[in-house]
Amino acid sequence: MTPSLNHVAIIMDGNGRWAKKQNQERTFGHFHGVEKVREISMAANDEGIKVLTLYAFSTENWKRPLQEVEYLMQLPAMFFSKYLKELMEKNIRIETIGDLAPFPDNTKKVLMNAIEETSHNTGMILVFAMNYGGRTEIVEAAKKYQSAVMNGSMKDPLTEINFEQFLMTKDYPPVDLCIRTSGEQRLSNFLLWQLAYSELVFTMTAWPELSVEEFRDLLKVGLSRERRFGGLV
Ligand code: IPE
Ligand code: IPE
Ligand code: MG
Repeated sequence: MTPSLNHVAIIMDGNGRWAKKQNQERTFGHFHGVEKVREISMAANDEGIKVLTLYAFSTENWKRPLQEVEYLMQLPAMFFSKYLKELMEKNIRIETIGDLAPFPDNTKKVLMNAIEETSHNTGMILVFAMNYGGRTEIVEAAKKYQSAVMNGSMKDPLTEINFEQFLMTKDYPPVDLCIRTSGEQRLSNFLLWQLAYSELVFTMTAWPELSVEEFRDLLKVGLSRERRFGGLV
């Protein structure tokens, strides 16, 4: 077991290119990506990680062709119909960050059901970032802070610590490590506030072919980095 990783975040990227390389449709990559979510989540749980946040759909992903977006909307149902039982057995709690409102009713229902069913589980929290964007999250937090001041429930001056209480990740520990697959080295609007001091680890491997062994190695790479938080060691 790898010690002291409380919160790991993953930008699961490269599904489409991985599929294309095999002369398959992009949706084939997403299908295999879902299987990988199960495998890596279970490995993270075995490693004792407390929170695993997976970037599943960004606020920018609506720009994709309708057919691909519609396919992506069906993935939560595919995932939870197969794996909710196993998640329950492993005591894993499901949560989401992002705005679920624009999703089709059935997708919302499946997600709300998984959140509800697992709400009493006390093990790893598996957070799906769905229709999530870091900039929107910060703007929404600012709006919530403003209304709290206006209605009198917030009397403290605005500080980093009390601003964080308005972010979608308020209940989670700081992100220690963010992994991005598929060779891209950018954040693509993921957890902009939260990643300020996280370690960033990139791999060329596409998400559907990330092995548990490589995942463990990436955790070790993150852990082996010296974190200075602006100070000196
Ligand atoms: C990640 O894989 C999955 C989502 C963004 C939903 P991509 O679909 O971005 O695959 P590539 O990056 O085009 O290969
Ligand atoms: C980021 O991947 C979003 C998710 C993994 C859900 P993208 O493939 O959408 O990001 P860009 O377009 O390469 O920046
Ligand atoms: Mg991509």
